[in-house]
Amino acid sequence: MSERRFDRSNALYERALRTIPLASQTFSKSAMTLVRGASPLFLERGRGAAVWDVDGNRYVDYVLGLLPVVLGYGDPEVDAAIRAQLERGISFSLATELEVELAELLCRLIPCAEMVRFGKNGSDATSAAIRLARAVTGRERVAHCGYHGWHDWYIGSTVRHLGVPRAVCELSASFAFNDADALAALLEAKPQEYAAVILEPAGSYDPKPGFLEAVRDLCDAHGAILVFDEIVTGFRIHLGGAQARYGVTPDLACFGKAMGNGMPIAAIVGRRQVMRAMDEIFFSGTFGGEALSLAASLATVRKLEALDGPARIAGLGGRLALGLRAAVAQAGLGTRYKVGGPDWRPVVSPLSAGPDGIIATSLFRQEMVAEGLLLLGGVNLCLAHGEAGVLDETLAAARRAFDRIAAAYASNDPAACLRGQPVQPVFQVRPQ
Ligand SMILES: Cc1ncc(COP(=O)(O)O)c(C=O)c1O
Repeated sequence: MSERRFDRSNALYERALRTIPLASQTFSKSAMTLVRGASPLFLERGRGAAVWDVDGNRYVDYVLGLLPVVLGYGDPEVDAAIRAQLERGISFSLATELEVELAELLCRLIPCAEMVRFGKNGSDATSAAIRLARAVTGRERVAHCGYHGWHDWYIGSTVRHLGVPRAVCELSASFAFNDADALAALLEAKPQEYAAVILEPAGSYDPKPGFLEAVRDLCDAHGAILVFDEIVTGFRIHLGGAQARYGVTPDLACFGKAMGNGMPIAAIVGRRQVMRAMDEIFFSGTFGGEALSLAASLATVRKLEALDGPARIAGLGGRLALGLRAAVAQAGLGTRYKVGGPDWRPVVSPLSAGPDGIIATSLFRQEMVAEGLLLLGGVNLCLAHGEAGVLDETLAAARRAFDRIAAAYASNDPAACLRGQPVQPVFQVRPQ
């Protein structure tokens, strides 16, 4: 292990705290997520699959900005499209042809997409879907499963509900993934009251055979709009999303993250009959048609299609999962960590919960950082991870990191092997 110093990161953190609450714009990118004192807090640049922090340390990045980077940092085609558009303009006073081109491309690729509107964040798309569902059904309740963003309708029903009116919190209820009976119970308990069922159709686990079909049937039986939140699955599991992969078509679907290789863009897509109500509700923002992101998205999706991006991502993930599983076993850590998840996004997670789980997660993140891997647990992949040597470098680093974790457990006081403050979970809404 080369000695990594984080002096600039730490100094910048202290400075940031004076003007930026949390010293970050995103909970999951804040100091809560890594072992503070033994980790970077600020990054400076990225290229391919690697990033450099403000102290000059290099990492192979398996966070990827929380999944928008799908081709790699500084992808030449996407960056060229952004530069070309920059010459023409960024934000215009009327719509541009780029909007039409991207909408047509999404309608060709995504099964439920007959019409499309754009936003900037995933939360824009999910919140628009819920408003649309409420408008077309004349109902107010929402059943949800997974994470769907920061807006009141969703976050109000999680433990992070501070600031959300109680009346709004009471309109949303969650059900567990792969548990169609739980959804049926919610819908049956309040007949004719649910406007929408929104779920991440795949994630840490594959949907059980029949689960998505059962959700579709329940929505039809109860007159609720089915929304797939494909903000993570979109352009990674399949170019048409989980709906194309599993053959179940929702009424509406939300995309974001990977569709612009890092540029801020999201989309709500869906059946014409439902999407037409967009004319009646209010979903409208200054930057919805911002041209750099649209140009980036066109270049990203076209390149993913040309290279069969999702197949490559699954190939990389499958190889990494095998190698990580072997590294865990070799280090004798099979009772402490598991490598699960689907090939398109493997997940390394601790087997214990509570305080032991926090220590296990903290040791994992600390030692991965020490060996040059930015890896929080979820193995976020981009095509640049397929460049020569990257997976070999990753697995060699992971083996060293797991050996060091094993040594920490062998010491009988693993917490004492943390070189800073343990991680703090934001909150858990997905199964591990
Ligand atoms: C499944 C899912 N839906 C919605 C969102 C919200 O997207 P954003 O943070 O871009 O608003 C996220 C973000 O992580 C997500 O993972």
